[in-house]
Amino acid sequence: MPELVKTADGSDTLYISELNEHYHSTFGAVQESMHIFIEAGLHQCKQSSINLFEVGFGTGLNAYLTVLEGLKTGQTIRYITIEKYPLTPTIWKALNYTEIIPEGNPSLFQMIHEAKWNEEVKITDHFSILKLSADLIFFDYSKLPLFDIVYFDAFSPEKQTKLWETSIFQQIARHCATKAKLVTYCAKGAVRRSLIVAGFTMERIPGPPGKREILRGTVEPQDTTI
Ligand SMILES: C[S@@+](CC[C@H](N)C(=O)[O-])C[C@H]1O[C@@H](n2cnc3c(N)ncnc32)[C@H](O)[C@@H]1O
Repeated sequence: MPELVKTADGSDTLYISELNEHYHSTFGAVQESMHIFIEAGLHQCKQSSINLFEVGFGTGLNAYLTVLEGLKTGQTIRYITIEKYPLTPTIWKALNYTEIIPEGNPSLFQMIHEAKWNEEVKITDHFSILKLSADLIFFDYSKLPLFDIVYFDAFSPEKQTKLWETSIFQQIARHCATKAKLVTYCAKGAVRRSLIVAGFTMERIPGPPGKREILRGTVEPQDTTI
């Protein structure tokens, strides 16, 4: 049973004692999600229509920040997210994101959580969500649109090694549009090398407080001259 924990910026996260893992950085959950997924990720996508894939829906914080950001930019976002262990309403309703995020919209957070699993649900005129109740390891991407951006937000490679294997990144890369971005909080060399093998060009970029660096990958156009 996940335990509610306060992080340093005042926003909540969850702690799983069986794994000794938090869902977010204890230096600040909202601060971390904004920095990595919104600023280093979503803001790099300039097109008017975006297909976004998230690994690990969890608390719904990234989805909530993304719908709020979409209201500002006017971009159309199809948010596709996969989760093996959905949270119960008692847990997500206890999270303080709707109170702590300035210019938030509590009803959007609720709609995102109450959206049916495995069905694409319209949340605003420009934002839909498809929450897939599935295991990333056995996932079939074939029915999904190509991704323009990937939020890779699994638990750490130390705790969930299989989710960070090259074969997983290869499957994701094959399902990405040219120039698609992948962002993750993890800056480990082994993860970076696996992403390169999978076909991403990698950058190390400054992380949020408590994390020196994070990773961003770009899918380069295929060289068809050979
Ligand atoms: C770091 S937490 C997610 C953080 C989430 N993006 C958020 O903002 O709360 C990792 C998430 O991956 C989910 N997960 C773990 N194993 C998975 C698997 N094999 N397939 C899909 N999701 C998985 C966990 O249940 C958890 O919600």
